[in-house]
Amino acid sequence: MSPSHCGARILRRAPAADKFLVYQTAEGKGDPLSRSVLVTGGNRGIGLAIAHAFAEAGDKVAITYRSGEPPEGFFAVRCDITDTEQVEQAYKEIEAEQGPVEVLVANAGVTKDQLLMRMSEEDFTSVLDTNLTGTFRVVKRANRAMLRAKKGRVVLISSVVGLYGSAGQANYAASKAGLVGFARSLARELGSRNITFNVVAPGFVDTDMTRVLTEEQRENIVSAVPLGRYAQPSEIAAAVRFLASDEASYITGAVIPVDGGLGMGH
Ligand SMILES: NC(=O)c1ccc[n+]([C@@H]2O[C@H](COP(=O)([O-])OP(=O)(O)OC[C@H]3O[C@@H](n4cnc5c(N)ncnc54)[C@H](OP(=O)(O)O)[C@@H]3O)[C@@H](O)[C@H]2O)c1
Repeated sequence: MSPSHCGARILRRAPAADKFLVYQTAEGKGDPLSRSVLVTGGNRGIGLAIAHAFAEAGDKVAITYRSGEPPEGFFAVRCDITDTEQVEQAYKEIEAEQGPVEVLVANAGVTKDQLLMRMSEEDFTSVLDTNLTGTFRVVKRANRAMLRAKKGRVVLISSVVGLYGSAGQANYAASKAGLVGFARSLARELGSRNITFNVVAPGFVDTDMTRVLTEEQRENIVSAVPLGRYAQPSEIAAAVRFLASDEASYITGAVIPVDGGLGMGH
């Protein structure tokens, strides 16, 4: 791995990211208001909205990006989550910049839609390698410091189709369903260490991922959504930020749908 492949850059720090305020709880324990947050795939779409939501709340936010130019305002590290060495290098750079990751949002994901009979093994395994094994890589690495700190918040971005199913998305749905078992197992394994693991399951969100759909496909989807529209990325970000907040301190192993009602009952 070349160092340039994982090179970190700060283009402009968000004003809020420079706050290192500490407030006192009623019990007198100091809780850091500004936490070290990492959002994988935070350069665009849902991940970028999540990164903004944490930065606006005063947290220090690092994002990983895989290609192109990262957005301004965050500590951006190039990292492909299918490569364990790149994940390790990214964490080292983030830890040096803003301290050990206290809140991890595993958001990076891909689709490679195809009907089963036309789906190659590579179509299947590459989606699993990014969405499920890639999440394993970043969560495992984050847990090292969370165990030491005896606290941590992990939010995994799944999808409504993980439990609902979707024709032509067997690979994607399997990877997203896998995240639920993964998170719930870790919730049981690490609850005693004060680390929470929760899943957000978005429905259809207006991002590059869904912009590849035809107008007819979009209309069909919207007609099945009780709220009758796509979600905005900020609506997913709000649920993620809540799960990482003090208000959600007793929530772990939960799957929170943010899908306009599409997946009700699943
Ligand atoms: N959009 C929806 O309707 C929807 C619905 C349910 C769930 N989700 C989930 O929400 C998450 C974000 O989706 P989105 O709609 O924002 O998608 P998007 O706009 O396509 O963005 C995907 C993000 O994942 C990153 N990524 C993909 N493969 C990666 C890899 N191997 N290593 C590192 N980063 C990688 C991309 O980086 P690059 O920019 O470098 O490619 C990008 O930042 C995904 O997990 C997706 O499955 C989306």
